[in-house]
Amino acid sequence: MARERVITGRSVGQEEDRLHESLRPRRLDEVVGQRQVIEQLTIALEAARRRGEPMEHVLMSGPPGLGKTTLANVVANELGATLRVTSGPAVTKPGDLMHWLTEMKRGDVLFIDEIHRLSRTVEEFLYAAMEDFRVDFTIDSGISGRTVNIALPPFTLIGATTRSGLLTAAMRDRFGIQFHFDFYTVQELTEILRRSAAKLRVQAEDEALTAIASRARGTPRVANRLLKRVRDYAQVRADGQITPEVVVQACDILQIDRLGLDELDRTLLTALIRVFNGGPAGIEALAATLGQERDTLEDVVEPYLLQIGFIVRTRQGRCATRAACEHLNLPWVAPAGQDGQGSLFDGQ
Ligand SMILES: Nc1ncnc2c1ncn2[C@@H]1O[C@H](COP(=O)(O)OP(=O)(O)O)[C@@H](O)[C@H]1O
Ligand SMILES: [Mg+2]
Repeated sequence: MARERVITGRSVGQEEDRLHESLRPRRLDEVVGQRQVIEQLTIALEAARRRGEPMEHVLMSGPPGLGKTTLANVVANELGATLRVTSGPAVTKPGDLMHWLTEMKRGDVLFIDEIHRLSRTVEEFLYAAMEDFRVDFTIDSGISGRTVNIALPPFTLIGATTRSGLLTAAMRDRFGIQFHFDFYTVQELTEILRRSAAKLRVQAEDEALTAIASRARGTPRVANRLLKRVRDYAQVRADGQITPEVVVQACDILQIDRLGLDELDRTLLTALIRVFNGGPAGIEALAATLGQERDTLEDVVEPYLLQIGFIVRTRQGRCATRAACEHLNLPWVAPAGQDGQGSLFDGQ
């Protein structure tokens, strides 16, 4: 797909990263929503402060764009600590981590994004660092090679993952605190947009912000990106004022419908309904049919379609629901061998 996807929760480049960076909340009390996560964090931060110890290691999971990186920054700010940022794919061997680990001071925070993509060797190397703040590190691999046991300053590891299911149980167990991020409500996204509009000095009616929020797939990153696109449209085609009509017109051009679904969502649903007769269809088969990466479908397409009940996951694969058919104006086909209400349809 050549066209840039407007409603993806993933980052789409450096310029945009700067936008999100400028809109990022810095302190705990500026963070909107995720009440449960914030409450647990507040307690953990306070407990660490009182004990004068680093905070426990934290694992954050959830779809892209929901605030994992933001929260890691907030935690470091609240601790008055330095945040060091790396990611699973960037660390290929223990030596890559040594650099980060030895640079840290007591109480600092190491953030590893996409932690499910660490290699097995690096993961095992991390265990001792997380548990005992010590590592066995091999210097020189040749004949003169030797292993030294190095003490590290006590630190907090924050791991983020879009796919906690891919993490080994051993890794997961080493995190004292584990959060799952949920999609935001329209009200929460409206509040986030209100703050963003103020920061960007954009004039927008509340109703217009709600219209953007309801098309943002429960995702702050998408909400902020849409706000920017709608602002551009308002400046070029309207008088700069963001009204609900302007939102609808701008989203029409971007081919984003009133639920925030775009071409890719509609193509997936249509394929599921037409090509696979409503399902069940395996994720690999769907990816091949759409010419998309399986990861893309699992990370940024499916979670929201599951959330709004347009697809369900069964052991045999994905099925489209009646609601999806109605939204696309397609006749409802009950998935093969089922009446559409059987036990396969409860839960996920
Ligand atoms: N709870 C929140 N309150 C306000 N803004 C948020 C919140 N969560 C995310 N954002 C905004 O969305 C953007 C993307 O969040 P980010 O932390 O990068 O997501 P993730 O790391 O989960 O992919 C941030 O730059 C920030 O502007
Ligand atoms: Mg992130």
